[in-house]
Amino acid sequence: MSISYAERIPNNVNLTDNRVLQRALEHWQPRFLGWWRDMGPTDFNGADVYLRTATSVDAQGWATYGSVKMPDYRWGIFLADRYPERKIGFGDFRGQPAWEQVPGEHRSTLRRLIVTQGDTEPASVEQQRLLGHTCPSLYDLRSLFQVNVEEGRHLWAMVYLLHAYFGRDGREEAEALLERHSGNRDNPRILNTFNEPVEDWLSFFCFTYFTDRDGKYQLKCLAESGFDPLARTCRFMLTEEAYHMSVGMLGLGRVVKRTADVMKEIGSEKPEAVRRSGAIDLPTLQRYLNFWFTSSLDLFGSEVSSNAATTFANGIKGRPDEMTAFEDHDIRDASFNLDSPKGREDVPMRNALNEVVREAYIRDCEVGLRLWNRILAKSGSKSEIRLPSPRFNRTVGVWAGQPVDPAGAVLSAEDWARQKQAWLPSDTDRAFVKSLMKRVVDPGKVAGWIAPPERGIGGHPPDYEYVRL
Ligand SMILES: [Fe+2]
Ligand SMILES: [Fe+2]
Repeated sequence: MSISYAERIPNNVNLTDNRVLQRALEHWQPRFLGWWRDMGPTDFNGADVYLRTATSVDAQGWATYGSVKMPDYRWGIFLADRYPERKIGFGDFRGQPAWEQVPGEHRSTLRRLIVTQGDTEPASVEQQRLLGHTCPSLYDLRSLFQVNVEEGRHLWAMVYLLHAYFGRDGREEAEALLERHSGNRDNPRILNTFNEPVEDWLSFFCFTYFTDRDGKYQLKCLAESGFDPLARTCRFMLTEEAYHMSVGMLGLGRVVKRTADVMKEIGSEKPEAVRRSGAIDLPTLQRYLNFWFTSSLDLFGSEVSSNAATTFANGIKGRPDEMTAFEDHDIRDASFNLDSPKGREDVPMRNALNEVVREAYIRDCEVGLRLWNRILAKSGSKSEIRLPSPRFNRTVGVWAGQPVDPAGAVLSAEDWARQKQAWLPSDTDRAFVKSLMKRVVDPGKVAGWIAPPERGIGGHPPDYEYVRL
Protein backbone atom coordinates (compact mmCIF):
# COMPACT_ATOMS: atom_id res chain seq x y z
CA MET A 1 0.00 0.00 0.00
CA SER A 2 1.42 3.41 -0.90
CA ILE A 3 2.01 6.08 1.69
CA SER A 4 -0.07 9.23 1.59
CA TYR A 5 1.97 12.34 2.34
CA ALA A 6 -0.83 14.72 1.42
CA GLU A 7 -2.28 14.47 4.91
CA ARG A 8 -1.15 15.96 8.18
CA ILE A 9 -0.11 12.52 9.36
CA PRO A 10 1.57 10.51 6.59
CA ASN A 11 0.15 7.00 6.61
CA ASN A 12 -0.73 3.89 4.67
CA VAL A 13 -3.66 2.90 6.86
CA ASN A 14 -6.37 5.00 5.16
CA LEU A 15 -6.57 7.37 8.06
CA THR A 16 -9.02 9.64 6.17
CA ASP A 17 -11.58 6.83 6.28
CA ASN A 18 -11.61 6.90 10.06
CA ARG A 19 -12.34 10.45 11.15
CA VAL A 20 -12.47 9.72 14.87
CA LEU A 21 -9.08 8.05 14.88
CA GLN A 22 -7.63 10.72 12.62
CA ARG A 23 -8.81 13.46 14.95
CA ALA A 24 -7.47 11.68 18.03
CA LEU A 25 -4.05 11.29 16.42
CA GLU A 26 -4.07 14.89 15.19
CA HIS A 27 -4.68 15.86 18.77
CA TRP A 28 -1.67 13.80 19.92
CA GLN A 29 0.59 15.15 17.14
CA PRO A 30 1.30 18.61 18.67
CA ARG A 31 1.99 16.92 22.01
CA PHE A 32 4.54 14.73 20.27
CA LEU A 33 6.16 17.78 18.65
CA GLY A 34 6.25 19.51 22.02
CA TRP A 35 7.98 16.47 23.47
CA TRP A 36 10.49 16.48 20.58
CA ARG A 37 11.22 20.16 21.24
CA ASP A 38 11.68 19.64 24.98
CA MET A 39 13.23 16.18 25.15
CA GLY A 40 14.68 15.54 21.67
CA PRO A 41 18.16 16.51 20.41
CA THR A 42 19.04 19.84 21.96
CA ASP A 43 19.80 22.90 19.83
CA PHE A 44 19.69 21.25 16.41
CA ASN A 45 16.13 21.90 15.38
CA GLY A 46 17.26 24.58 12.93
CA ALA A 47 19.91 22.44 11.23
CA ASP A 48 19.39 20.94 7.77
CA VAL A 49 19.98 17.22 8.13
CA TYR A 50 20.36 14.76 5.28
CA LEU A 51 17.72 12.23 6.34
CA ARG A 52 15.90 9.31 4.84
CA THR A 53 12.12 9.21 5.00
CA ALA A 54 9.94 6.17 4.33
CA THR A 55 8.09 6.49 1.02
CA SER A 56 6.75 2.98 0.61
CA VAL A 57 6.81 -0.25 2.57
CA ASP A 58 8.36 -2.46 -0.13
CA ALA A 59 11.54 -4.24 0.80
CA GLN A 60 13.36 -2.40 -1.98
CA GLY A 61 13.57 1.34 -2.22
CA TRP A 62 11.34 2.31 0.66
CA ALA A 63 13.34 5.40 1.56
CA THR A 64 14.08 8.74 -0.06
CA TYR A 65 16.91 10.99 1.09
CA GLY A 66 16.79 14.73 1.41
CA SER A 67 17.68 17.71 3.53
CA VAL A 68 15.18 18.16 6.36
CA LYS A 69 14.94 20.20 9.54
CA MET A 70 14.17 17.59 12.20
CA PRO A 71 10.94 19.16 13.52
CA ASP A 72 9.66 19.02 9.89
CA TYR A 73 10.39 15.30 9.58
CA ARG A 74 7.31 13.48 8.28
CA TRP A 75 6.66 11.10 11.16
CA GLY A 76 3.86 8.79 10.21
CA ILE A 77 2.17 5.42 10.38
CA PHE A 78 3.48 2.71 8.10
CA LEU A 79 2.44 -0.92 8.25
CA ALA A 80 3.97 -3.64 6.11
CA ASP A 81 1.59 -5.15 3.57
CA ARG A 82 -0.91 -7.75 4.70
CA TYR A 83 -0.23 -11.42 4.03
CA PRO A 84 -3.53 -12.58 2.56
CA GLU A 85 -5.45 -14.97 4.81
CA ARG A 86 -2.74 -15.02 7.40
CA LYS A 87 -3.15 -17.64 10.13
CA ILE A 88 -1.82 -17.71 13.69
CA GLY A 89 1.41 -19.63 13.33
CA PHE A 90 2.11 -21.05 16.80
CA GLY A 91 0.68 -21.89 20.18
CA ASP A 92 -2.75 -23.21 21.11
CA PHE A 93 -4.64 -21.28 18.41
CA ARG A 94 -2.36 -22.26 15.57
CA GLY A 95 -4.15 -22.43 12.22
CA GLN A 96 -6.94 -20.04 13.23
CA PRO A 97 -7.24 -16.77 11.26
CA ALA A 98 -5.00 -13.97 12.56
CA TRP A 99 -6.91 -11.30 14.51
CA GLU A 100 -7.77 -7.96 12.93
CA GLN A 101 -9.11 -6.74 16.26
CA VAL A 102 -7.86 -7.32 19.78
CA PRO A 103 -9.56 -10.33 21.39
CA GLY A 104 -11.08 -9.20 24.70
CA GLU A 105 -9.30 -11.87 26.74
CA HIS A 106 -5.86 -10.75 25.46
CA ARG A 107 -6.47 -7.05 25.62
CA SER A 108 -4.47 -6.20 28.71
CA THR A 109 -1.54 -8.45 27.73
CA LEU A 110 -1.33 -6.89 24.28
CA ARG A 111 -1.63 -3.39 25.68
CA ARG A 112 1.18 -4.06 28.13
CA LEU A 113 3.45 -5.40 25.38
CA ILE A 114 2.75 -2.44 23.09
CA VAL A 115 3.23 0.11 25.88
CA THR A 116 6.51 -1.51 26.98
CA GLN A 117 7.83 -1.51 23.41
CA GLY A 118 6.52 2.02 22.82
CA ASP A 119 8.19 3.30 25.98
CA THR A 120 11.67 2.34 24.78
CA GLU A 121 11.42 4.42 21.59
CA PRO A 122 11.19 7.96 23.03
CA ALA A 123 13.39 6.82 25.93
CA SER A 124 16.36 6.30 23.62
CA VAL A 125 15.89 9.74 22.07
CA GLU A 126 15.95 11.24 25.56
CA GLN A 127 19.06 9.25 26.48
CA GLN A 128 20.90 10.53 23.41
CA ARG A 129 19.70 14.12 23.42
CA LEU A 130 23.01 15.80 24.32
CA LEU A 131 25.28 13.79 22.04
CA GLY A 132 25.04 16.21 19.11
CA HIS A 133 27.28 18.63 20.98
CA THR A 134 30.22 16.23 20.97
CA CYS A 135 29.85 14.55 17.57
CA PRO A 136 33.08 13.11 16.10
CA SER A 137 32.04 14.15 12.56
CA LEU A 138 29.12 15.45 10.51
CA TYR A 139 28.66 11.93 9.18
CA ASP A 140 28.15 10.65 12.73
CA LEU A 141 25.93 13.58 13.66
CA ARG A 142 23.65 12.63 10.77
CA SER A 143 23.61 8.98 11.90
CA LEU A 144 22.58 10.04 15.39
CA PHE A 145 19.74 12.19 14.08
CA GLN A 146 18.58 9.50 11.67
CA VAL A 147 18.34 7.07 14.55
CA ASN A 148 16.57 9.68 16.68
CA VAL A 149 13.87 10.58 14.13
CA GLU A 150 13.23 6.91 13.44
CA GLU A 151 12.84 6.13 17.13
CA GLY A 152 10.33 8.98 17.12
CA ARG A 153 8.55 7.20 14.28
CA HIS A 154 8.59 3.94 16.21
CA LEU A 155 6.77 5.78 18.96
CA TRP A 156 4.18 6.80 16.36
CA ALA A 157 3.88 3.16 15.32
CA MET A 158 2.96 2.05 18.84
CA VAL A 159 0.75 5.08 19.51
CA TYR A 160 -1.22 4.28 16.37
CA LEU A 161 -1.96 0.78 17.69
CA LEU A 162 -2.96 2.16 21.10
CA HIS A 163 -5.29 4.74 19.57
CA ALA A 164 -6.75 2.48 16.90
CA TYR A 165 -7.37 -0.66 18.97
CA PHE A 166 -7.50 0.17 22.67
CA GLY A 167 -10.05 2.97 23.01
CA ARG A 168 -9.81 5.36 25.93
CA ASP A 169 -7.16 3.47 27.91
CA GLY A 170 -5.06 3.31 24.73
CA ARG A 171 -5.25 7.09 24.41
CA GLU A 172 -4.26 7.48 28.04
CA GLU A 173 -1.29 5.19 27.56
CA ALA A 174 -0.25 7.27 24.53
CA GLU A 175 -0.22 10.37 26.71
CA ALA A 176 1.79 8.61 29.39
CA LEU A 177 4.44 7.66 26.82
CA LEU A 178 5.27 11.37 26.57
CA GLU A 179 5.17 11.89 30.33
CA ARG A 180 7.63 9.28 31.55
CA HIS A 181 11.22 10.36 30.94
CA SER A 182 14.51 8.51 30.83
CA GLY A 183 16.27 8.68 34.18
CA ASN A 184 13.49 10.73 35.77
CA ARG A 185 13.36 9.93 39.47
CA ASP A 186 9.60 10.25 39.87
CA ASN A 187 8.44 8.99 36.50
CA PRO A 188 11.18 6.96 34.79
CA ARG A 189 10.99 4.82 31.67
CA ILE A 190 9.70 1.28 32.23
CA LEU A 191 12.87 -0.73 31.54
CA ASN A 192 16.15 -0.16 33.33
CA THR A 193 18.52 0.03 30.36
CA PHE A 194 16.45 2.92 29.03
CA ASN A 195 17.14 4.94 32.15
CA GLU A 196 20.93 4.59 31.80
CA PRO A 197 22.62 7.77 30.64
CA VAL A 198 24.16 7.75 27.16
CA GLU A 199 26.52 10.66 27.52
CA ASP A 200 29.39 9.76 25.23
CA TRP A 201 29.65 8.33 21.74
CA LEU A 202 31.26 5.09 22.85
CA SER A 203 28.10 4.43 24.88
CA PHE A 204 26.01 5.48 21.89
CA PHE A 205 27.68 2.94 19.61
CA CYS A 206 27.37 0.25 22.29
CA PHE A 207 23.72 1.19 22.77
CA THR A 208 22.90 0.99 19.06
CA TYR A 209 24.84 -2.26 18.74
CA PHE A 210 23.48 -4.06 21.82
CA THR A 211 20.30 -2.33 22.93
CA ASP A 212 18.82 -1.62 19.50
CA ARG A 213 19.54 -5.27 18.76
CA ASP A 214 17.41 -6.23 21.75
CA GLY A 215 14.76 -4.10 20.02
CA LYS A 216 15.28 -6.13 16.87
CA TYR A 217 14.59 -9.36 18.74
CA GLN A 218 11.53 -8.02 20.54
CA LEU A 219 10.17 -6.79 17.21
CA LYS A 220 10.92 -10.13 15.58
CA CYS A 221 8.85 -11.88 18.26
CA LEU A 222 5.99 -9.40 17.91
CA ALA A 223 6.18 -9.59 14.10
CA GLU A 224 4.95 -13.19 14.54
CA SER A 225 1.95 -12.09 16.62
CA GLY A 226 -1.52 -13.37 15.89
CA PHE A 227 -2.68 -9.76 16.26
CA ASP A 228 -2.06 -8.83 12.66
CA PRO A 229 -1.82 -5.00 12.90
CA LEU A 230 0.94 -5.44 15.49
CA ALA A 231 2.74 -7.99 13.32
CA ARG A 232 2.60 -5.71 10.27
CA THR A 233 3.75 -2.68 12.26
CA CYS A 234 6.74 -4.55 13.65
CA ARG A 235 7.71 -5.99 10.28
CA PHE A 236 8.15 -2.51 8.89
CA MET A 237 9.93 -1.24 12.03
CA LEU A 238 12.51 -3.98 11.57
CA THR A 239 13.64 -2.46 8.27
CA GLU A 240 14.41 0.79 10.12
CA GLU A 241 16.00 -1.01 13.07
CA ALA A 242 18.59 -2.63 10.80
CA TYR A 243 20.17 0.77 10.22
CA HIS A 244 20.41 1.56 13.94
CA MET A 245 22.38 -1.63 14.55
CA SER A 246 24.64 -0.90 11.60
CA VAL A 247 25.46 2.46 13.19
CA GLY A 248 26.66 0.57 16.25
CA MET A 249 28.48 -2.11 14.29
CA LEU A 250 30.33 0.36 12.04
CA GLY A 251 30.92 2.83 14.87
CA LEU A 252 32.52 0.26 17.17
CA GLY A 253 34.49 -1.10 14.20
CA ARG A 254 35.92 2.36 13.60
CA VAL A 255 36.82 2.71 17.29
CA VAL A 256 38.67 -0.62 17.16
CA LYS A 257 40.37 0.37 13.89
CA ARG A 258 41.64 3.63 15.35
CA THR A 259 42.86 1.89 18.51
CA ALA A 260 44.59 -0.79 16.43
CA ASP A 261 46.28 1.86 14.28
CA VAL A 262 47.48 3.78 17.35
CA MET A 263 48.79 0.62 19.06
CA LYS A 264 50.75 -0.23 15.94
CA GLU A 265 52.07 3.31 15.56
CA ILE A 266 53.34 3.59 19.14
CA GLY A 267 54.37 -0.07 19.38
CA SER A 268 52.50 -0.58 22.63
CA GLU A 269 49.14 -1.86 23.80
CA LYS A 270 49.52 -0.47 27.33
CA PRO A 271 46.28 1.29 28.28
CA GLU A 272 48.09 4.43 29.54
CA ALA A 273 50.11 4.70 26.34
CA VAL A 274 47.07 4.24 24.12
CA ARG A 275 45.16 6.81 26.14
CA ARG A 276 48.03 9.29 25.94
CA SER A 277 47.77 8.99 22.16
CA GLY A 278 44.11 9.95 22.29
CA ALA A 279 42.60 6.56 21.49
CA ILE A 280 40.39 4.26 23.55
CA ASP A 281 42.42 1.40 25.06
CA LEU A 282 41.04 -2.10 24.59
CA PRO A 283 40.37 -2.83 28.29
CA THR A 284 38.19 0.28 28.49
CA LEU A 285 36.36 -0.72 25.32
CA GLN A 286 35.89 -4.22 26.77
CA ARG A 287 34.39 -2.78 29.98
CA TYR A 288 31.90 -0.70 27.96
CA LEU A 289 30.92 -3.77 25.95
CA ASN A 290 30.52 -5.76 29.19
CA PHE A 291 28.20 -3.14 30.60
CA TRP A 292 25.90 -2.59 27.63
CA PHE A 293 25.77 -6.24 26.63
CA THR A 294 24.75 -7.46 30.08
CA SER A 295 22.33 -4.61 30.65
CA SER A 296 20.69 -5.50 27.34
CA LEU A 297 20.56 -9.21 28.29
CA ASP A 298 18.37 -8.29 31.25
CA LEU A 299 15.79 -6.82 28.86
CA PHE A 300 14.76 -10.31 27.75
CA GLY A 301 13.39 -11.10 31.20
CA SER A 302 13.69 -14.11 33.48
CA GLU A 303 14.91 -17.42 32.10
CA VAL A 304 11.85 -19.14 33.50
CA SER A 305 8.72 -17.15 32.87
CA SER A 306 5.06 -18.11 32.96
CA ASN A 307 4.28 -14.85 31.12
CA ALA A 308 6.44 -15.99 28.21
CA ALA A 309 4.64 -19.35 28.21
CA THR A 310 1.23 -17.69 28.20
CA THR A 311 1.93 -15.17 25.44
CA PHE A 312 3.27 -18.00 23.28
CA ALA A 313 0.37 -20.32 24.04
CA ASN A 314 -2.09 -17.57 23.19
CA GLY A 315 -0.43 -16.70 19.86
CA ILE A 316 0.51 -13.21 21.04
CA LYS A 317 4.31 -13.36 20.93
CA GLY A 318 6.30 -15.92 18.94
CA ARG A 319 9.95 -16.76 18.71
CA PRO A 320 12.23 -14.82 16.31
CA ASP A 321 11.69 -16.19 12.79
CA GLU A 322 9.03 -18.54 14.17
CA MET A 323 7.80 -19.61 10.75
CA THR A 324 11.19 -20.24 9.13
CA ALA A 325 13.59 -21.23 11.91
CA PHE A 326 11.46 -23.83 13.72
CA GLU A 327 9.51 -26.94 12.81
CA ASP A 328 7.59 -27.47 16.02
CA HIS A 329 5.27 -24.50 16.58
CA ASP A 330 3.47 -26.06 19.49
CA ILE A 331 6.37 -27.05 21.83
CA ARG A 332 3.94 -28.12 24.52
CA ASP A 333 5.91 -31.27 25.26
CA ALA A 334 9.41 -29.93 24.55
CA SER A 335 11.88 -29.06 27.27
CA PHE A 336 14.84 -26.74 27.57
CA ASN A 337 18.08 -27.45 29.42
CA LEU A 338 18.70 -24.36 31.48
CA ASP A 339 21.96 -23.17 33.01
CA SER A 340 21.28 -21.93 36.54
CA PRO A 341 23.37 -21.40 39.69
CA LYS A 342 21.95 -24.69 41.01
CA GLY A 343 23.29 -26.56 37.98
CA ARG A 344 21.65 -27.57 34.75
CA GLU A 345 17.95 -28.37 34.87
CA ASP A 346 15.23 -29.22 32.36
CA VAL A 347 12.33 -26.78 32.24
CA PRO A 348 9.26 -26.79 29.96
CA MET A 349 10.23 -25.12 26.66
CA ARG A 350 7.31 -22.70 26.72
CA ASN A 351 8.49 -21.38 30.09
CA ALA A 352 12.05 -20.96 28.80
CA LEU A 353 11.22 -18.83 25.77
CA ASN A 354 12.86 -15.68 27.12
CA GLU A 355 16.07 -17.68 27.26
CA VAL A 356 15.52 -19.06 23.75
CA VAL A 357 15.21 -15.51 22.42
CA ARG A 358 18.20 -14.36 24.49
CA GLU A 359 20.35 -17.14 23.03
CA ALA A 360 19.42 -16.11 19.47
CA TYR A 361 20.29 -12.53 20.40
CA ILE A 362 23.68 -13.55 21.77
CA ARG A 363 24.54 -15.42 18.58
CA ASP A 364 23.62 -12.31 16.62
CA CYS A 365 25.82 -10.13 18.87
CA GLU A 366 28.84 -12.31 18.13
CA VAL A 367 28.95 -11.24 14.47
CA GLY A 368 30.41 -7.85 15.34
CA LEU A 369 32.97 -9.32 17.72
CA ARG A 370 34.35 -11.54 14.96
CA LEU A 371 34.61 -8.56 12.65
CA TRP A 372 36.35 -6.33 15.19
CA ASN A 373 38.78 -9.06 16.19
CA ARG A 374 39.68 -9.45 12.54
CA ILE A 375 40.57 -5.75 12.47
CA LEU A 376 42.83 -6.27 15.49
CA ALA A 377 44.46 -9.38 14.04
CA LYS A 378 45.04 -7.69 10.69
CA SER A 379 46.97 -4.88 12.35
CA GLY A 380 49.18 -7.42 14.14
CA SER A 381 47.62 -7.28 17.59
CA LYS A 382 47.32 -10.48 19.63
CA SER A 383 44.53 -9.02 21.75
CA GLU A 384 40.89 -9.96 21.42
CA ILE A 385 37.67 -8.48 22.69
CA ARG A 386 34.84 -10.80 23.60
CA LEU A 387 31.32 -11.01 24.90
CA PRO A 388 31.20 -11.75 28.63
CA SER A 389 29.31 -14.80 29.88
CA PRO A 390 25.54 -14.26 30.10
CA ARG A 391 25.89 -15.19 33.79
CA PHE A 392 27.95 -12.07 34.41
CA ASN A 393 26.61 -8.83 35.93
CA ARG A 394 22.95 -9.74 35.68
CA THR A 395 20.19 -7.98 37.58
CA VAL A 396 17.31 -10.05 36.17
CA GLY A 397 16.75 -13.80 36.19
CA VAL A 398 18.43 -16.77 37.85
CA TRP A 399 21.90 -15.21 37.69
CA ALA A 400 20.81 -11.87 39.16
CA GLY A 401 23.22 -10.70 41.85
CA GLN A 402 25.45 -13.78 41.53
CA PRO A 403 29.20 -13.21 41.96
CA VAL A 404 30.38 -14.37 38.52
CA ASP A 405 33.36 -13.20 36.49
CA PRO A 406 33.14 -12.33 32.76
CA ALA A 407 34.31 -15.85 31.86
CA GLY A 408 31.33 -17.26 33.78
CA ALA A 409 33.22 -18.64 36.81
CA VAL A 410 31.44 -18.33 40.15
CA LEU A 411 33.50 -16.35 42.69
CA SER A 412 33.32 -15.73 46.40
CA ALA A 413 31.45 -12.58 47.36
CA GLU A 414 34.76 -10.97 48.45
CA ASP A 415 36.51 -11.76 45.18
CA TRP A 416 33.59 -10.34 43.25
CA ALA A 417 33.52 -7.11 45.27
CA ARG A 418 37.27 -6.73 44.87
CA GLN A 419 37.46 -7.37 41.13
CA LYS A 420 34.16 -6.02 39.85
CA GLN A 421 35.75 -2.64 39.13
CA ALA A 422 38.11 -4.19 36.61
CA TRP A 423 35.23 -5.53 34.53
CA LEU A 424 32.83 -2.62 34.31
CA PRO A 425 33.43 1.03 33.36
CA SER A 426 34.79 2.97 36.32
CA ASP A 427 34.36 6.69 36.95
CA THR A 428 37.91 7.14 35.66
CA ASP A 429 37.06 5.31 32.43
CA ARG A 430 33.99 7.44 31.94
CA ALA A 431 35.90 10.64 32.64
CA PHE A 432 38.61 9.61 30.17
CA VAL A 433 36.11 8.73 27.42
CA LYS A 434 34.30 11.98 28.10
CA SER A 435 37.57 13.91 27.77
CA LEU A 436 37.87 12.64 24.17
CA MET A 437 34.41 13.86 23.22
CA LYS A 438 35.16 17.08 21.36
CA ARG A 439 32.86 18.31 18.68
CA VAL A 440 34.18 18.00 15.11
CA VAL A 441 31.95 19.58 12.46
CA ASP A 442 34.20 20.44 9.51
CA PRO A 443 33.02 18.36 6.53
CA GLY A 444 35.33 15.36 6.11
CA LYS A 445 37.13 15.87 9.46
CA VAL A 446 36.90 13.14 12.10
CA ALA A 447 37.83 13.12 15.81
CA GLY A 448 41.11 11.43 16.75
CA TRP A 449 39.62 8.56 18.77
CA ILE A 450 37.72 7.02 15.87
CA ALA A 451 38.71 6.04 12.32
CA PRO A 452 36.93 7.81 9.45
CA PRO A 453 33.95 6.04 7.88
CA GLU A 454 34.76 4.00 4.79
CA ARG A 455 31.59 4.86 2.93
CA GLY A 456 29.15 7.74 2.90
CA ILE A 457 25.36 7.75 2.88
CA GLY A 458 22.89 7.89 0.01
CA GLY A 459 25.62 7.79 -2.64
CA HIS A 460 27.51 10.75 -1.15
CA PRO A 461 31.19 10.55 -0.13
CA PRO A 462 32.13 10.45 3.60
CA ASP A 463 33.17 14.13 3.52
CA TYR A 464 29.76 15.33 2.33
CA GLU A 465 28.19 18.06 4.47
CA TYR A 466 25.54 15.77 5.99
CA VAL A 467 24.37 18.38 8.46
CA ARG A 468 24.29 22.11 7.72
CA LEU A 469 24.38 23.78 11.09
FE1 LIG B 1 12.99 1.63 17.78
FE1 LIG C 1 16.32 1.46 17.10
